[in-house]
Amino acid sequence: MRQEIMLAIFITILFISTVISQENGTITEIPQEVLDNSTATSIPEEILTFLLMGDTQFHFPCEQDNVQCKHVSKKNRARFFLDNELEFLPGVEVNETVRQGKESTTTLESRFANRVQRQALDALIGSMDYKPAALIINGDLTDFGHLHQLHEFRKVWYDNFPIPLLLGLGNHDYDNNVNDCVLNFCAHTMLSWYTDYVKNHSIVADITRKPVNMDVEYTGSLAYTERVCSKNGKMCAFVIQLNNAIDYNVTVSSLFVNWNLVPPIEYLSKELIILSNTSLPILVNLHQCSGTRSVKVKRMLNSWMLNMKATFKSNQKVPRLGVFYAHVHGRHEVVLECMGGYKIPFVYIGSVPNNRFSKLDITSLNATITGYKARDSLMHNGEMLEKLETVKLWGPCTGTETIRFEDHATRKRRNFIRRARNQAHKSDK
Ligand SMILES: *[C@@H]1O[C@H](CO)[C@@H](O)[C@H](O)[C@H]1NC(C)=O
Ligand SMILES: *[C@@H]1O[C@H](CO)[C@@H](O)[C@H](O)[C@H]1NC(C)=O
Ligand SMILES: *[C@@H]1O[C@H](CO)[C@@H](O)[C@H](O)[C@H]1NC(C)=O
Ligand SMILES: *[C@@H]1O[C@H](CO)[C@@H](O)[C@H](O)[C@H]1NC(C)=O
Ligand SMILES: *[C@@H]1O[C@H](CO)[C@@H](O)[C@H](O)[C@H]1NC(C)=O
Ligand SMILES: *[C@@H]1O[C@H](CO)[C@@H](O)[C@H](O)[C@H]1NC(C)=O
Ligand SMILES: *[C@@H]1O[C@H](CO)[C@@H](O)[C@H](O)[C@H]1NC(C)=O
Repeated sequence: MRQEIMLAIFITILFISTVISQENGTITEIPQEVLDNSTATSIPEEILTFLLMGDTQFHFPCEQDNVQCKHVSKKNRARFFLDNELEFLPGVEVNETVRQGKESTTTLESRFANRVQRQALDALIGSMDYKPAALIINGDLTDFGHLHQLHEFRKVWYDNFPIPLLLGLGNHDYDNNVNDCVLNFCAHTMLSWYTDYVKNHSIVADITRKPVNMDVEYTGSLAYTERVCSKNGKMCAFVIQLNNAIDYNVTVSSLFVNWNLVPPIEYLSKELIILSNTSLPILVNLHQCSGTRSVKVKRMLNSWMLNMKATFKSNQKVPRLGVFYAHVHGRHEVVLECMGGYKIPFVYIGSVPNNRFSKLDITSLNATITGYKARDSLMHNGEMLEKLETVKLWGPCTGTETIRFEDHATRKRRNFIRRARNQAHKSDK
């Protein structure tokens, strides 16, 4: 009897290890320590974790619902006649004093939100046995590409973060400031810094440099694809970064440098064909993905899914593809789109001005995404993290599902509004 149990456990271990090692397409040898262990529960399941957020955006006001941040700016707002969104109250005569007050209040809120976010992420990473493979920041690193804003981004995040960073640019880094700063210096600052960043990290980005007469010309989408693995290399995923938007293109001329940025849509199309035979998850990242842009992304992924459906079926694999973005600071939600009968998550990953972020955990058997609210520890009795819902990704589906991440404060507010509405409704009768 006992021997039978042992045999059953052994077969279970063998089966699970086979599933794990098939990830690479080949059945590798089962590690000795797995065979030696006598209980199935002690098999270390390899987890590949990513942290995701957007919009560090030095310096931009906090979201209205970020109660802790609005608490910090309360005195300043009263002093400089600012409302909750840091707009001047009606009837205020705007002079230099209050204009500067608005700017300093914006900086105050942005620094608070970034500090709280950084401390929460440090605490979360510090508490994890298996460190995340990277923090993905999907654009708007700065508010306008000014040098002092980039320096602050470097100081707070880039120069000393405990795990690797995978960065993208957003509309505030270049799109918004094209033909606005002197000599296009703001856009040029961010674009040249970004090309430096990818080069320093041996990331191959879609950009070529060539001399034209006295000038230098850069051409490409700046998109890149990185294969990222868990510590022991058993679980891997492809991270694609498309920067601002699927259809964004622009030419920027600065002193002796021309940037000819093409839309990343072709890059994505080619990359999906190259990766069509992979069994690894594909994580598509970009800054903004709403309206017609979202339609364009969906159309592309939908046709890819239809082409690939038969291949996935014959390989008995579930497609593991997802799209991750930020830009709308107040949104933090997962929409599980149903494409070719499989769930394809479209995720607002959370923003710094809202003190939200997400954690994506991928194993060989399943994957989840969990929302978090970063909290100022002094205001919350030492608590730096509020864990929100956990959503299962991928697998078969029958229809679209939407899951919004809600924290304590937003839930309270929503309930309050609902109650008020109900009461108004009752008194109407
Ligand atoms: C599979 O494993 C081999 C070594 O065993 C390694 O060189 C290769 O990069 C792996 N490929 C994938 C897709 O994991
Ligand atoms: C067995 O499992 C334990 C606890 O999960 C672990 O510490 C140990 O390294 C594993 N391997 C062996 C050979 O005991
Ligand atoms: C600036 O405007 C504010 C609000 O209208 C006013 O209270 C303040 O006295 C003004 N300051 C100066 C120096 O004019
Ligand atoms: C890239 O590396 C150079 C040389 O170490 C350094 O001076 C520069 O600041 C780095 N840039 C980025 C964006 O990491
Ligand atoms: C680039 O954008 C312009 C409009 O700003 C558009 O007319 C042009 O077709 C775009 N080029 C590509 C390659 O999409
Ligand atoms: C994918 O694999 C199938 C056979 O398994 C092959 O026919 C097809 O050409 C491959 N596609 C690519 C893009 O490599
Ligand atoms: C995912 O799989 C792991 C083990 O492989 C298991 O512990 C965990 O509960 C699963 N999660 C979900 C949400 O099914």
